[in-house]
Amino acid sequence: MSKEKVPGSETIAVHWREEPLIRPQPEFVGQSNVSDPSIFERFSEDNFPECFDEYAQMLTWYKSWHQTLDSSNPPFYRWFVGGEINASFNCIDRHLPKRAGQVAFHFVPEPEDAPLVSITYQQLYWRVNEMAAMLREEFGLQRGDGVTLHLPMTLELPITMLACARLGVIHTVVFSGFSGRACGDRIVDSQSRLLITMDSYYRGGKLLDHKIKADEAVDHAAEGGHTPEKVLVFRREPGKYASDTPMHDGRDVFVDEILPRFKSREIEPEHMLAEDTLFLMYTSGSTGKPKGSQHSTGGYLAYAAGTSKYVLDIHPDDVYWCMADIGWITGHSYIVYGPLVLGTTSVLFEGAPNIPDTGRPWRVSEQLGVNILHTSPTAVRALRKAGTEVPAQYKYHFKSMTTVGEPIEPEAWRWYYEAVGKGKAVITDTWWQTETGGHLLSTLPAIHDMKPGSAGPALPGIYASILDDQGKDIKPGTSVAGSLCIRNPWPGRMLTIWRDDQRFIDTYYKRFCTNAESSDWRDWPYFAGDGAVQSADGYYRILGRLDDVINVAGHRLGTKELESSCLTVDVVVEAAVVAVPDEIKGVVPEVFVSLRTNIEASEEIEQRIKQAILDDIGPIAKPRNVWIVPDMPKTRSGKIMRRVLASLSAKKDPGDVSTLANPEIVEIIRVLVQK
Ligand code: PRX
Repeated sequence: MSKEKVPGSETIAVHWREEPLIRPQPEFVGQSNVSDPSIFERFSEDNFPECFDEYAQMLTWYKSWHQTLDSSNPPFYRWFVGGEINASFNCIDRHLPKRAGQVAFHFVPEPEDAPLVSITYQQLYWRVNEMAAMLREEFGLQRGDGVTLHLPMTLELPITMLACARLGVIHTVVFSGFSGRACGDRIVDSQSRLLITMDSYYRGGKLLDHKIKADEAVDHAAEGGHTPEKVLVFRREPGKYASDTPMHDGRDVFVDEILPRFKSREIEPEHMLAEDTLFLMYTSGSTGKPKGSQHSTGGYLAYAAGTSKYVLDIHPDDVYWCMADIGWITGHSYIVYGPLVLGTTSVLFEGAPNIPDTGRPWRVSEQLGVNILHTSPTAVRALRKAGTEVPAQYKYHFKSMTTVGEPIEPEAWRWYYEAVGKGKAVITDTWWQTETGGHLLSTLPAIHDMKPGSAGPALPGIYASILDDQGKDIKPGTSVAGSLCIRNPWPGRMLTIWRDDQRFIDTYYKRFCTNAESSDWRDWPYFAGDGAVQSADGYYRILGRLDDVINVAGHRLGTKELESSCLTVDVVVEAAVVAVPDEIKGVVPEVFVSLRTNIEASEEIEQRIKQAILDDIGPIAKPRNVWIVPDMPKTRSGKIMRRVLASLSAKKDPGDVSTLANPEIVEIIRVLVQK
């Protein structure tokens, strides 16, 4: 296996100070699901892999597994072998004897004057069953088929996911903010039979036309060689079509016109094998094409349940609000599957947290009695900037709060703790990834002290290490930067990359595998692609991505995806995308392009490039600047030096550039970007 340098690791300079530890409040510890540190003995390496039976036992199985882990063919692992289960049954049916009347979701529409819609577990049962009946009988969906859901944050999204899970249909949810083209790419790769969408939804104070993206998605998918059979269109207000885009005869159907026929129908959940696929979730990688993270049914669900119970500390009588979007993995694991498996009450919020003003999250929390809040550092920074004193005006009581998605600065952390948590709520900073299915590093909130800016130690059953460029273990607890790895398999990990096992090996295992012939998982550490340090107390601090991925507001964008989008503008010959620091979003992309000879730079070209990115990916990828430069700084072998561009953008010294093929270009670009 090749042993090239960990890309980017040589540039990591670690210069922050250690933060003091903060003890969790005794009231929190007293009610916690796990406050006894002996859990780490139960999940020690000596007890691996059977320790994870504890998570699987939180679920209801049709048939128990006969082997906890089959690791004979690394890195393709099978958890809970022989076990049979259904995710929809675990999220809904099994709660009915005890809590049919309990609210499963409070749906909070973005317009504040629109009524709250609360749906009980019993009502969820009926909605999911009728949807499943319709998908099976009207559209012929069967176990193993795929569908793409391009749905916003409304009840229809979890209902459709759970209906798919009931039938054993593999769902691919595409974030509603993504463009039609991005959705089309995912339809092709997942070979989805149907696209399920909605006419419109509220976001940022406006009713957005969403159906228009479905037409783009299907056209784009057709260009890619795959056309879904039908497009199912929910109406945000049943019976009232709010899109300017016409329905496509023979292809598009209104769900609310067909669904009533399936009222009161009950669908027996499919008995799925633990290793059957529950869903795909696409994520950006360092090459252009998004990767379909293929997640299992039994292992994934067990891991989502275990971490929801022990890390998020969810109880059935909590009111839990995760502000992420279900279109990301956080929403899958910690809005839909984990919380529902535990039978709790969740808030589903359609909108942006600053509509109509930044008091909204606190009003929702006050009105609904939210006691667990789960959000991102970006949201924390934005709420802090918009009004430090705002949360103090509201009478909500959080017992615990979570952050996820990107490193949180200790300053932002302290504001979250003091101003939002009122110095009473514990904070867990959870590190994980789309590929991992659930949390891997975090404090267990009733056991560990909190440390601002640090994710915490590895969770029970997760054996993490930091490796140097040669793949050698960096001595634990020495605060030396390296590449974060997980040495062992865990049940929540993706099965593979959809239809691309080789890419799965190449992306996550090739880097540090010590023996490609080995059938021992110990030779196959999982390469996370993040830089990290571990301090003497065992807490990890994440330094950010080592590969060509930009983490904007907790969402991964591949630089290659943005660059290829720039190249769709015909006058562009080269494009380089770098990440620059941003006060609210952590980092944002900045684009450098060079043009064909004899083409003059112009604002019009700049606009076309921005539009191409908007069309290909969506507003989330919006670059701060597009710089049209005469040439890119390049090594003698012709590689674009993105690091030099990033330093210039961040108004930093690019260092010694004398070894470049064209060092003179650096000054020209500096004058341009730093004027
Ligand atoms: O760089 C890490 C960062 O987000 C990446 C994973 O992104 P994604 O697959 O979109 O999943 C986001 C939600 C799990 C990681 O490789 N990241 C995630 N959580 C943290 C984090 N960085 C620092 N601290 C975290 N708590």
